[in-house]
Amino acid sequence: MGGLYDKVTRYGDPGFSRFLRRAMSRNLGFSADDFERPVVGVLNTFSEVNRCHAHFGPLVEAVKRGVLMAGGVPLEFPTISLGEPFLEPSAMLFRNLAAMDAEEMIRAQPFDAVVLVGGCDKTLPALVMGAASADLPALVVSGGPMLAGDFQGERLGACTDCRRYWTEWRAGRIDADTLEAVNRELAPTHGHCMVMGTASTMAITIEALGLMLPGGAAIPAVHQERLAHAEASGKAAVALARAGLRPSRILTPRAYRNALTVLAAIGGSTNAVVHLTAMAARSGIRIALDDFDRISRRTPLLTQVKPVGRYHLEDFYHAGGVPALMWRLRALLEPDALTVTGRTHRENWEALRVAERPVPEAYREVLADPERPFKPDGGLRVLRGNLCPDGAVIKSHAATPGLLRHRGPALVFENEADLERRLSDVAATPEHVLVLKSIGPVGGPGMPEAGMIPIPPAVLRRGVRDMVRISDGRMSGTAYGTVVLHVAPEAAVGGPLAAVETGDMVRLDVEAGVLEVEVAPEDLARRLQARRRPPRPARGYRRLYFDHVLQAPEGVDFDFLRPPTPWSLWDDPPEAELDEAARQRAADGY
Ligand code: FES
Repeated sequence: MGGLYDKVTRYGDPGFSRFLRRAMSRNLGFSADDFERPVVGVLNTFSEVNRCHAHFGPLVEAVKRGVLMAGGVPLEFPTISLGEPFLEPSAMLFRNLAAMDAEEMIRAQPFDAVVLVGGCDKTLPALVMGAASADLPALVVSGGPMLAGDFQGERLGACTDCRRYWTEWRAGRIDADTLEAVNRELAPTHGHCMVMGTASTMAITIEALGLMLPGGAAIPAVHQERLAHAEASGKAAVALARAGLRPSRILTPRAYRNALTVLAAIGGSTNAVVHLTAMAARSGIRIALDDFDRISRRTPLLTQVKPVGRYHLEDFYHAGGVPALMWRLRALLEPDALTVTGRTHRENWEALRVAERPVPEAYREVLADPERPFKPDGGLRVLRGNLCPDGAVIKSHAATPGLLRHRGPALVFENEADLERRLSDVAATPEHVLVLKSIGPVGGPGMPEAGMIPIPPAVLRRGVRDMVRISDGRMSGTAYGTVVLHVAPEAAVGGPLAAVETGDMVRLDVEAGVLEVEVAPEDLARRLQARRRPPRPARGYRRLYFDHVLQAPEGVDFDFLRPPTPWSLWDDPPEAELDEAARQRAADGY
């Protein structure tokens, strides 16, 4: 354990560096005694441009109080904050930047452990990516979900209902006053989106990974329990520091198998496919796209939270949250995986006496037993075919069942600007397949969440609310519809999607895992030769991003940040091998 004298600034004389640090710490109030204590960095992603983190002041204070109570020294520090609706073109463009910031600040400053406080969609994966690479003892505290809104007796959740009401307004079914009244109730409290969007999904899967104290993910942002959880996390961070328990011992293939199983059981966001892949790779683990399909097919859906049900995260919390879910799912999980408590999931459940707590009667429609699941599988499907040689994904439980097998003519938009220009006048029918190109990692840039392509007015007027939609982009975890996402390779790097033209017949068969365009290979090749590459940015972060970003099935990380990945998801490396690989990653600068 290093304490405040650790990681000194280099002046060529370490003794002088420590002398200087002591002098420069006095005005911060540190006594000599403090230099003997474990130091816990508290990474605070508060920003006034991130509404989901508006309540982080008291939350971070509670973490720091916990650190002090356990005999540690808490040192709060800021990093980049990514507020989903406040970033152009997409928060995803900056996830890797945030991960780099977190990693380097964790590594460079004199911490013995770190508490990662985040919440809005991209923040948690970015922090875990950074912490996995820095490999300092770490645990996560999420900001927690908002409470649901209420519009004339109907409970509303951001942003599933944002999209639904906006579509009704576009269809002329509600007036501007109603839309404004709904708008007031969509995000009524502090916290992140309260449906099973990306923020909820990532908090829950990170708890399943073992990187959060049990029960933390679902506590509403404004519930007093969240402060108690934050304080307990501060205490736990000091224990982690003393034990030297690093992420490389927790973030194992087994932990990721648990996370993917929980992802399927909650019908979580498709964005988790990208984030979990990127996070795992930082720990040397290769998750293949087909692993998500395989685990999803064998895992029953046990929750009914929007957009695959009608409930909200506060209901899931009252039903028992992640410990209750994992305990019910235990036959498909590996309960002996280690967590930040220093104990296994199984031991955590015993400490919480989860087995003795039935789901309250009022919440039986929120959390099911595996014998009576809401659906037999998780609904996350991977597609292959000549339109997506490296794969694509679809969340079948958020789709229209009748469209899961569909053949129709493509209606192509070359990019978002083309979509915006032509959408209102385009001659579309419900049978058309909407295709949007150039919203992938490079083309977006940043793979924006534009994959839930708006239904053209000509179709809305016929009372139709869903069509098959295909893109190389992402969609919000709060969104829904028969939406094929993450088509790879993306159009901007020469993927076959770039060659699709309006009128080409497209075939989707989700059960068979097929996505094809009925065009001869030589015609596709000829069309691709005529395509133009997007211009390379002249400088700065966007140039770095353009040159190094990986495709969706590889997690959209930067190639130079991803270490060698010796293990597949299905491996079980012994502890000595985990330690040696972590040592090697550090030695190689990863
Ligand atoms: Fe932050 Fe939805 S806007 S989680």
